[in-house]
Amino acid sequence: MADQPDRARGRFITFEGGEGAGKSTQIRLLAAALEASGREVCLTREPGGSPGAEQIRELLVTGETGRWDALTELLLLYAARRDHVKRLIEPALERGCWVLCDRFADSTMAYQGYGHGLELDRISDLHRIVLGDLKPDLTLVLDLPPETGLARTRTGGEAARRGGEDRFERMELAFHERMREGFRTIATAEPQRVVLVDAARDPSAVTAEVAALVRARLGAEL
Ligand code: TMP
Repeated sequence: MADQPDRARGRFITFEGGEGAGKSTQIRLLAAALEASGREVCLTREPGGSPGAEQIRELLVTGETGRWDALTELLLLYAARRDHVKRLIEPALERGCWVLCDRFADSTMAYQGYGHGLELDRISDLHRIVLGDLKPDLTLVLDLPPETGLARTRTGGEAARRGGEDRFERMELAFHERMREGFRTIATAEPQRVVLVDAARDPSAVTAEVAALVRARLGAEL
């Protein structure tokens, strides 16, 4: 019997950004385009993505803004992330699936680090303890002024769709501004992995840029 070549490991792409930047729409469009090109795609999100992590998500995104202190919030996020990576992300990558994740570890740096002021080195240390050196192959940060993004999330349909998942949206504007600066700093520090995409434009222009980046950086046939 001829040797079967090992199936290539899939690619890991994450979408990041503030509230109302259009991540969920753009990630769905990219998933559809990759599937149309013949790739197997696994579309997922954080916090959540696996049954256990979705239960932890509920604790994180509902309730009073001060429900958790910053370190407790960090530990909950990493408990959820480990379950998600071990049960869903790693097995999917190993069988050749392209994993598209709506938020991942850069959100923790931006929200809990830059936003809440937890030491960035402590977050990196925890990441290494929980997940070793796992990083996305490509991270697209949909960048938008926080006022614009928050206004988008507060328009009727979106608010209803989110069904009470607004604990972070209700944090002060200064928090969202620090968090945006955090994403921009990460993009400057790791240009080979992280790209800023201007999300204030027409959504179709954002979709076209996302496809071009995935083609150029990862060789997808889009
Ligand atoms: P979503 O609105 O993109 O579904 O994300 C839910 C909220 O969780 C969002 O307000 C950002 C927040 N979050 C963090 O604060 N830290 C993290 O590490 C992640 C993944 C999300």
